[in-house]
Amino acid sequence: MGALISISTVAKAQNVNAKMYEEQHRPQVHFSPRQHWINDPNGMVYFNGIYHLFFQYYPDGNKWGPMHWGHAESNDMIYWREMPIALYPDSLGYIFSGSAVVDSNNTSGFGKEGKTALVAIFTHHDPKGEAKGTDDFQNQSLAFSIDNGDTWTKYSGNPVLKNPGIKDFRDPKVMWYAPEKKWVMTLATKDRITFFSSPDLKNWKKESEFGENLGAHEGVWECPDLFSLDDKGKKLWVMIVNIGSGGPNKGSATQYFLGQFDGNKFIPLDHKIRWLDYGPDEYAGITWSNTGNRKIFLGWMTNWLYANDVPTTIWRNAMTIPRELKIKHTANDIIVSAEPVKELNKIESGKTLIENISSTKNFDLSKKINQIKFPCRLNISIDATTNFAVVLSNDKNEKTAIGYDKDNHQFYIDRTKSGKTDFQKNFAAKHFAPRFSTNHALNISLIIDVSSVELFADDGMTVMTETFFPTKDYNNIKIESRENLSIKKIEYAPLKSIWKRN
Ligand code: FRU
Repeated sequence: MGALISISTVAKAQNVNAKMYEEQHRPQVHFSPRQHWINDPNGMVYFNGIYHLFFQYYPDGNKWGPMHWGHAESNDMIYWREMPIALYPDSLGYIFSGSAVVDSNNTSGFGKEGKTALVAIFTHHDPKGEAKGTDDFQNQSLAFSIDNGDTWTKYSGNPVLKNPGIKDFRDPKVMWYAPEKKWVMTLATKDRITFFSSPDLKNWKKESEFGENLGAHEGVWECPDLFSLDDKGKKLWVMIVNIGSGGPNKGSATQYFLGQFDGNKFIPLDHKIRWLDYGPDEYAGITWSNTGNRKIFLGWMTNWLYANDVPTTIWRNAMTIPRELKIKHTANDIIVSAEPVKELNKIESGKTLIENISSTKNFDLSKKINQIKFPCRLNISIDATTNFAVVLSNDKNEKTAIGYDKDNHQFYIDRTKSGKTDFQKNFAAKHFAPRFSTNHALNISLIIDVSSVELFADDGMTVMTETFFPTKDYNNIKIESRENLSIKKIEYAPLKSIWKRN
């Protein structure tokens, strides 16, 4: 049985060329498509032991173009199999972002002969209407699968939610609201969120609007998400709203609101602006549906400022590491923390532990460990009373520094000298993120891939994602400081490439 499953899985997935995934800058522990352009994660749903990841995909080029839904599957969110394209553009337009749900009660009637339907809810973007200057060219549509996500059929009654005349009317994220046995759609509608509800995914009624005067508004609101997390035994609702520009370090970024949702309205806890990731390179992040009490978030690992121009070869752009979201309390705030899913541990290959390093200004990890290998995970426990930076470098003196600045109580990532940066004027920059924890002990965890670093500080309270493109891969790691360092612990673990399992 096991063998049968794996043969059919391999047959379903398209051929994987041996040299593929070994190109310069190719992420080794992050999902990227074999070829061509991707943007937002879409339709993420867990069903029958499989994590589905759909994504905005242009199969004919390395820049944004007519959008399809590409598809990949995984048993663990770490190793991915790229599948045939799930949804192609049609007479109603391109297939823009959206979500997918498991219709367990067959509310839609798409389930047949006892087979549960997966239903995708997405935006049809009509480029002709856009070119004509109309304002109703984005409409919400459905597609379904009754073979575990392998093949998809578009609903003949599309679109199911028509545009009332709002240019930006897109990216439906749908969830089952159990108390009222109805579906709730969270939709980005220009400068606010509009909630709709439906008994069957086909007929939608407007519930309420949120956010016209709240949160960050420099860019258009896109790719929202709504879900609850456990907060000391109570439900706290989280509403994610991605924003096209005006992020904390310029460009696109993921903000969120905390509050209560009653099936009709979202009532925010306060008027604070919060960001799930302060780095420049996480966007359009949303969560998987049907994962029970776990809430797992995945973002697109770049920024609209330069996503079309990064110097990759046959593919362009990748996803972040999947992250588990939790509510954390600080002395005076509530935060959604994000940490790599525990499944990432399975690709760690051997761990080196170094403890109690003191009275040193510069600590060269490359000298302590025979050969530093990238990708890797690096966990550091250190005293928050010293400034320090973890510097990734190559012998061409190209480097990226991930640091902590105690006076300003902030983290930073400096990629001004990281390698190739001239493809866009904003790329060579130093980026900052606040430290929320006031603990004396500071723990940081870095997921370092060939062309990215993700910083998870204080158990995921501050997160930064940053890409870089050195002319030659980095092969050194140093911890530098002007003061004497007191490092309690360093844990270094190389990570196996997710593309070389067999
Ligand atoms: C966000 C976004 C979405 C849209 C999609 C188009 O990055 O602009 O709002 O649906 O990309 O590819």
